[in-house]
Amino acid sequence: MTMIFVQAEHSYEVTFTKSWAIDLVKRCEGRTRVAVIVSKSFAPDLSTLKNLDSELHVFEVPDGEDGKDIATLTKLWDWLGAAGFTRSDLVIGIGGGAITDLAGFTAASWLRGLDWVAVPTSLAGMVDASVGGKTGINSDYGKNLIGAFHSPVAVLIDTNFLISLSDRDIAAGMAEVIKCGFIADPKILALAGAHSVTTVRQNPEAISELIQRAVTVKAQVVSSDFKESFARESLNYGHTLGHAIEIFSKYKLRHGEAVSIGLVYAAELASARGLISKEEVELHRTILSAYGLPITYDRQAWQKIAPLLALDKKARGNTIRFVALSGIGATVRLEDLTSAELDAAYERISV
Ligand SMILES: NC(=O)c1ccc[n+]([C@@H]2O[C@H](COP(=O)([O-])OP(=O)(O)OC[C@H]3O[C@@H](n4cnc5c(N)ncnc54)[C@H](O)[C@@H]3O)[C@@H](O)[C@H]2O)c1
Repeated sequence: MTMIFVQAEHSYEVTFTKSWAIDLVKRCEGRTRVAVIVSKSFAPDLSTLKNLDSELHVFEVPDGEDGKDIATLTKLWDWLGAAGFTRSDLVIGIGGGAITDLAGFTAASWLRGLDWVAVPTSLAGMVDASVGGKTGINSDYGKNLIGAFHSPVAVLIDTNFLISLSDRDIAAGMAEVIKCGFIADPKILALAGAHSVTTVRQNPEAISELIQRAVTVKAQVVSSDFKESFARESLNYGHTLGHAIEIFSKYKLRHGEAVSIGLVYAAELASARGLISKEEVELHRTILSAYGLPITYDRQAWQKIAPLLALDKKARGNTIRFVALSGIGATVRLEDLTSAELDAAYERISV
């Protein structure tokens, strides 16, 4: 069993398992009540949890971003209150990144902080959302604007979940994996670059290695900088434009799809500054498009997307910050970009 350690406000393990439910039962020992938060659309088989010594409460919430809102959170608070959850009880999120973000924030906000366990079932959830302690919901003013740093006490990754995941969501998760390759681990780029959605699905060793490498990158960054000064910002590579496009698309695009476009945009910004070569920008396009990920966006949308950049969490005061590469595996912060530079880079990714 492989384990990766994360040192945040407390230390915890990301455990790679082939039997998530059995491992989860062990994690519940000693808890009087356990709340399992799952999506109405993707409810995993919870029959093993019937063996729990704890009182089991299963809460089904709307799928994806529809559940990451204040209305659902209020319902969860009511459910926890009615079930008598105390500070020694446990919250578990089993699902994609939207579910683990919501479960984590529910745990963070009830009684000023309950322990929680993340069982990510999507690739994006495994390599990104469940690791790092950022929890939250969306606001009408932007994505993930309401939240807390509240690390899980354990993360259980079982790649068997990926069998039922759609090709679209495998690709969306790969955007985050590929991002980790660009910011810190070129071996990810070599391995990801040798595959497509179809071949990576058929190759469990390759997907396991990609996930473990991406989690290692994230765990190292988070352990060195839990609350996001500069080191952790590197994980936001591709996310400044990505988040703006996500909002503009009204969440029709997957997070990873929007990040994919944002990665190419950030690469264009860096190339225009002479930080990376044109070939390195093309490498972004080649690897991301091999997974069917979008690498362009509508030219006409820029007028509406540009103002949304300021809503991103990387903005400080009136400055918009971008994470850029200064080479493969090295990042810098760009915060003095002019409107002309932002416009020109968008022109290079627009259709
Ligand atoms: N906290 C963080 O640090 C962090 C990092 C990255 C992303 N996120 C958040 O994560 C979310 C994106 O995660 P996501 O891409 O997993 O989206 P998601 O949670 O919306 O899941 C995508 C779809 O896949 C389904 N699904 C999940 N697992 C499945 C499986 N095994 N088989 C079949 N269907 C399955 C879900 O029900 C959903 O319909 C966003 O809300 C994003 O903001 C958070």
